[in-house]
Amino acid sequence: RIGAFAFANCRGFREVRLSAVVPPICADNAFDGIDLSRVKLVVPAQAKKAYRNASGWRNFFSRHEMENVCDPENLLVPRPLKLEVYKNSLPLKWKDVIGVEASPELNNEKMQAERILGERTAYRKGRKIGLMVRLALDKSLTNDEAYTLQVNDKGVTIKGSTAMGVFYGLMTLEQLCIGNGVAAPSTTIPPLYIVDQPRTEVRELMVDPVRHFIPFNDLKRFIVEMARFKFNALHLHLVDDQAWRIEIKKYPELTEKASDRVGMDDMPERISGFYTQEQMRELVRFAAQYHVMVIPEIELPGHEVAAIHCFPQLSCAKKEVPIRLTCGVSNDLLCPAEPFVYEFLDNVLKELAEVFPAPYVHLGGDEAGQPPLGAWTNCPACKELKWKEGFTENWQLQQYLFDRVIKQLHQLGKMPMYWYEKEFKTIQPECVVYAWRNGLTQVAIDAAVRNKAKIMMCPGEHCYLDYPQGRGDMPEVNWGMPVTSHEQTYRLDPAWGMDSSFVQRNLLGVSGTLWSECINSSERLYYQAFPRAAALSEAGWTIPERRSYTDYLLRVRPLMDDMLRRGIAVNVN
Ligand code: ACM
Ligand code: ZN
Repeated sequence: RIGAFAFANCRGFREVRLSAVVPPICADNAFDGIDLSRVKLVVPAQAKKAYRNASGWRNFFSRHEMENVCDPENLLVPRPLKLEVYKNSLPLKWKDVIGVEASPELNNEKMQAERILGERTAYRKGRKIGLMVRLALDKSLTNDEAYTLQVNDKGVTIKGSTAMGVFYGLMTLEQLCIGNGVAAPSTTIPPLYIVDQPRTEVRELMVDPVRHFIPFNDLKRFIVEMARFKFNALHLHLVDDQAWRIEIKKYPELTEKASDRVGMDDMPERISGFYTQEQMRELVRFAAQYHVMVIPEIELPGHEVAAIHCFPQLSCAKKEVPIRLTCGVSNDLLCPAEPFVYEFLDNVLKELAEVFPAPYVHLGGDEAGQPPLGAWTNCPACKELKWKEGFTENWQLQQYLFDRVIKQLHQLGKMPMYWYEKEFKTIQPECVVYAWRNGLTQVAIDAAVRNKAKIMMCPGEHCYLDYPQGRGDMPEVNWGMPVTSHEQTYRLDPAWGMDSSFVQRNLLGVSGTLWSECINSSERLYYQAFPRAAALSEAGWTIPERRSYTDYLLRVRPLMDDMLRRGIAVNVN
């Protein structure tokens, strides 16, 4: 028996010789880190086929020679809650399956199922008699995202309490059909039973089309890949110091004057573009097919230079400022004493609330100057407002600004979200905060617990996927980002060591950020996101008792092989 990582990185092998006719048990990653195409495997002639299909040994054969092998216990990211494989029963042969049966409310899922069968399996469409993939709603499942997946001699049955659950059952089925990751379609799948549901409610990735624009169609492609890992939210950072990227009908100046700039730090190319509201409506419809909601983000009171560039009246200084061409933190802030700020935000939020049906709108709130909120200290209007309200400190002005904007959002039926900073002394009811700063996660958690607020876990140490995955893996000059290794992302504990009452009352979900100061192409976006987003998906979905990093490494590999073959730049180092 050759165990996990037994010979990992022992690069000296030139030949491995076996006399056994029955291949010894060998972990699939026993020879990890070795280029096996350069190692000769010598086995008895009559045993060659057996070795070609045996775990561990099959890696010695060229991949197009290999069969697609579905070994469910060594597949699936995120790992499901319960998985039983009936190894002593005969596998289902895909050639005996002839199609998909689903009730009319599952039309979208039926289309997904047909795509999966067509792309991933050797099923036989068009025959009259055969087995079916059956999709059904099952109201006895209590979680909206829960599903069961059964494979037996009668076919495949996926049930969910909602279409979303059925969809996740299909994403699991697709990973089972990807099998060991070879190009060949799946021919068989063992009888099995899966019961699954997520640990956390919102699992999102955040992208930043501001610093570097993301073409509209690439956003759609990204959603397709996220959904494979059961992410259910795409958080769009639409506004910042370097550009305004969303059409606002009331203020056409924003995209006319602030969506086209030359350069970003040491990257000199022209970066232009914005999304029309029509495109965003299309994106929302598209994402809904993948059960992904789109959460829009604007910023206040900092990271708002693009808006101030168009409307200097928004800031304390009332002076025109250029669009920012570097990363970092600006001291130009919205002025909480300026009535136009509230009118402007109200109009912008009204339009956003109409375009994006998600229950959440993100308000930013991070990095409002250096020192934080310092820009307000010498502003005559801010001073007067402080005097009038009896405030002594700038954080009270921030609270005032947020209180008013949050009220506007609540009236629009939306739940406000913001990046937590320690300058926030209280968190308003019915708001969500994000823990993001390295080293400040516990402070953010304590604030959320104290204020009975929901929290999204996005600590920089684990969840900043815009940081390089390894040292030197980001050629552009950047601001000295730390490294977030694949393992470090995997090791995120969304509960942060807190008890079950925190998980039940406060924990909303997990987020991975892809800030784009140094992500200058869609290829780079994928390369930064994967495989770490897969690791994060498991942190957000799977209960701790079912998680193990070494086991995960085995399960994620075929999925990354599959993405590479489909032309997606993933980081396999
Ligand atoms: C952030 O990274 N500024 C939230
Ligand atoms: Zn001011």
